Amino acid sequence: MVVLVFSMVCGVYICLICLKQINIQTKTNTIQVIERPCGGNGIELPEMPYGHYPNPKTFSRAECEGNPVRFFAILSMQRSGSGWFESLLNSHINVSSNGEIFSVRIRRENVSSIVQTLDKVYNLDWLSSAAKNQCSAAVGFKWMLNQGLMEHHKEILEYFNHKGVSAIFLFRRNLLRRMVSDLANSYDRRAKLLNGTHKAHVHSAQEAEKLSEYKPTINSTSLVTDLKNSELTVAKALEYFNSTRHIVLYYEDIVKNRTKLKEVQEFLRLPKMKLTSRHVKIHQGSLRDHVMNWDDVNKTLTGTAYERFLRSDY
Ligand SMILES: *[C@@H]1O[C@H](CO)[C@@H](O)[C@H](O)[C@H]1NC(C)=O
Ligand SMILES: *[C@@H]1O[C@H](CO)[C@@H](O)[C@H](O)[C@H]1NC(C)=O
Ligand SMILES: *[C@@H]1O[C@H](CO)[C@@H](O)[C@H](O)[C@H]1NC(C)=O
Ligand SMILES: *[C@@H]1O[C@H](CO)[C@@H](O)[C@H](O)[C@H]1NC(C)=O
Ligand SMILES: *[C@@H]1O[C@H](CO)[C@@H](O)[C@H](O)[C@H]1NC(C)=O
Ligand SMILES: *[C@@H]1O[C@H](CO)[C@@H](O)[C@H](O)[C@H]1NC(C)=O
Ligand SMILES: *[C@@H]1O[C@H](CO)[C@@H](O)[C@H](O)[C@H]1NC(C)=O
Repeated sequence: MVVLVFSMVCGVYICLICLKQINIQTKTNTIQVIERPCGGNGIELPEMPYGHYPNPKTFSRAECEGNPVRFFAILSMQRSGSGWFESLLNSHINVSSNGEIFSVRIRRENVSSIVQTLDKVYNLDWLSSAAKNQCSAAVGFKWMLNQGLMEHHKEILEYFNHKGVSAIFLFRRNLLRRMVSDLANSYDRRAKLLNGTHKAHVHSAQEAEKLSEYKPTINSTSLVTDLKNSELTVAKALEYFNSTRHIVLYYEDIVKNRTKLKEVQEFLRLPKMKLTSRHVKIHQGSLRDHVMNWDDVNKTLTGTAYERFLRSDY
């Protein structure tokens, strides 16, 4: 009898605590997680705002309904390895990274169209080839800094923090290599070197070789200013989005050490997997072989803060 009464009192007490916690959470944050029953599912309390339970309009999450979903955005610049990085992420069975969705201008025309697009992505209703649908544990996309991100940074920051979106910054340390890749890519957009089609990323060594045959000429007059501006943009982006949950990655570090990818999976609370990509690097080896006016560029950068860009291998 005593044991029975004791367990009843305990039960009622536990229930009360549960209700109280749910109430507190309802008041303090407006994010969807609050509908979950007390305890269970193994998420630590401070992490709660980042695990979501979206309810897509276009399909049912079926057996994965109870799994939390992380929201992320890869914030990057063109030709910084983000295509490669995204293909690595998408090789994970539980990641849906939907590509560069804001490359389409009307989606970033104004804040309301941006928010509408983001809502659709994070509700899992964005249907791209990368969508893993019901068993996604992390959903996001790739966002270039010049696609409305810096322009509307205040509102976007608010959205990220309100919705619990984690930012993955991906930058390239060697901005000169980024510039060469950018110039070559712009050229190929017009010249279409691979049998008449433009390719920003390639999957074979032959294609890479063909694309790297073109050697861009770098404007040495504006070179230092251009590099400085890229650097400033990166610093500004980091400053604007400093208050979001974030991780900063550099392309070169991932190339050198794939264990960086483990950190990313930890950051997104994913079950660990080996990630793979079919992408092949286009400009291999020394930069000297990929620039038409190399002597000029060498002379311009020697003795400046950017001299190191002349030598590094990636
Ligand atoms: C935002 O842009 C969309 C798409 O161009 C347009 O339909 C909408 O009227 C615009 N909204 C505002 C508030 O300007
Ligand atoms: C990942 O996907 C697999 C297969 O679709 C599914 O069984 C598993 O529950 C998912 N894991 C998470 C954490 O969502
Ligand atoms: C171009 O097309 C030819 C013949 O169709 C094929 O053999 C070759 O591999 C293609 N080249 C590239 C770079 O795709
Ligand atoms: C190089 O940059 C300078 C300064 O921005 C500009 O005046 C010049 O027209 C550029 N040259 C070429 C070939 O684009
Ligand atoms: C971001 O905020 C932290 C702590 O407030 C600060 O130490 C760091 O310098 C900031 N970083 C940038 C890039 O503003
Ligand atoms: C790779 O990075 C991890 C930490 O991210 C470090 O512990 C490890 O020693 C690095 N490995 C190499 C070969 O540099
Ligand atoms: C740059 O020019 C100097 C002087 O001509 C030369 O010694 C050096 O090897 C060059 N550096 C590169 C990376 O080509």
